[in-house]
Amino acid sequence: MPETVLVLDFGSQYTQLIARRVRENHVFCVILPCNAPIDRIRALDPKAIILSGGPASFWQGGSPRCAPEVVTMGVPILGLCYGMQLLCGELGGHVAPAAHREFGRAEVRVVTSDPLFEGLDTKQEVWMSHGDRVESIPPGWIVLAESDNAPFAAARDPKRPIHGLQFHPEVAHTRHGKQMLRNFLFGVAKLSGDWVMSRFVDDAVETVRAQVGPDRVICGLSGGVDSLVTAALVYRAIGDRLTCIFVDNGLLRLNEAEEVESAFGAHFGKSLVTVHAADRFLNELAGVTDPEKKRKIIGRVFIEVFQDEARKFPDAHYLAQGTLYPDVIESVAAFGGPTATIKTHHNVGGLPEKLGFKLVEPLRALFKDEVRRIGVELGLPESMVWRHPFPGPGLAVRCLGEITKKRLDVLRRADAIFQEELTSHELHRSLWQAFCVLLPVRSVGVMGDERTYEEACALRAVTSDDAMTADWAQLPDAMLRTVSNRIINEVRGINRVVLDISSKPPATIEWE
Ligand code: XMP
Repeated sequence: MPETVLVLDFGSQYTQLIARRVRENHVFCVILPCNAPIDRIRALDPKAIILSGGPASFWQGGSPRCAPEVVTMGVPILGLCYGMQLLCGELGGHVAPAAHREFGRAEVRVVTSDPLFEGLDTKQEVWMSHGDRVESIPPGWIVLAESDNAPFAAARDPKRPIHGLQFHPEVAHTRHGKQMLRNFLFGVAKLSGDWVMSRFVDDAVETVRAQVGPDRVICGLSGGVDSLVTAALVYRAIGDRLTCIFVDNGLLRLNEAEEVESAFGAHFGKSLVTVHAADRFLNELAGVTDPEKKRKIIGRVFIEVFQDEARKFPDAHYLAQGTLYPDVIESVAAFGGPTATIKTHHNVGGLPEKLGFKLVEPLRALFKDEVRRIGVELGLPESMVWRHPFPGPGLAVRCLGEITKKRLDVLRRADAIFQEELTSHELHRSLWQAFCVLLPVRSVGVMGDERTYEEACALRAVTSDDAMTADWAQLPDAMLRTVSNRIINEVRGINRVVLDISSKPPATIEWE
């Protein structure tokens, strides 16, 4: 078990960000709901604990608490925003609604030198987001920093390594927040920062070997990075006892099937079985326009096709899946008290448990950016590792209206142009996802002397950390102009290109 930092989640929108910031420093970090029992916390043997912020008010009845033993475990603790208020309130200080809610950038002045602010100037630009504030700190505590609206912007117990920050060091608007977190991890908690990807790979390979013994493992490849990296890890662990099943459902991106096959051939020998099932999917989808019906059909047919193929390997008892950490984090409901809920995640096609496989999920502890780093570590081509996420139902949810081979081909060609231009403008990596959507809307155009009456294509490009929320991306005008010209000129079937400028929420990333 690597050195572990525990984040106790009080419902903050930044909880996962805190964990990722910790991990950027090569320190392993896990998240538990704030009401996790102390035995569960002790079992992790955390070397430091961070209490997240949260939307509740400390002084209101029923506001979330953590096990009281947390503060007496003797491990360094950092309370952020609500986390600080909780520490102060519980240890004998006083928390009350602030006369002025503070939301946004603020300046704090460091008034006592402390390892937490080591190497930083006295004045610090920080991000505040609180309606309550600490009115008095627990007896014996000392003030480390103050702001105009928060007399206790940072404080600590001088006898033990317990610190509180009223602001959010995890968000980028706190200019030196990363340094403050580094100071906590290395200056206060004295961690070693030895959680590196190469070590993760070695450990994961050992775990997979121990788990599956002499058995065969089946892995459903989707063309996406998660399943590819999963397969690469399992292949490193057990070699040809891995069988990958790649279902070409006819809903893939241009040349996708060939790219997966060649990346595979080069890296994993003969473990790949491609099932050409495009006709079967397209026949079942014929005439269907309702988004939910499309998804259900694709899910069902995928399971049938996959199952037929998997049966050919009776010695396989395990199924490898690219489940990631955000799929399994137990979250606390923002209001109504913390409750542990586990998000259901949609993997390749949503393979049901009744298939009877035991699961191998070597990426279960990782965030998406870490999966990409593992992919690089395992020697996968950058072009595959940096692919944007692609939904299980594929182009079906981007080809609005009826799905036909002809319309899919039009969409594929338009999308390939968009991808090409994004890559040549070096924008691909800065975006979470970017793709074309074919709209079943015809409009009039003119090409040369001819009148056209064809469909429209929407460009969708978003930035995001985790797909839970997303912003539409501002792409350069010149690049948009090129993409639009190229699509209209090169793709027969589209005579109008529009840009989707909706954020999530209230829109979603995909159109269906
Ligand atoms: P939405 O459209 O809900 O999408 O904002 C959020 C993220 O999930 C992806 N997505 C899917 N992935 N199976 C998947 O594996 C699906 O059915 C599915 N639907 C949406 C989407 O591309 C985005 O990254």
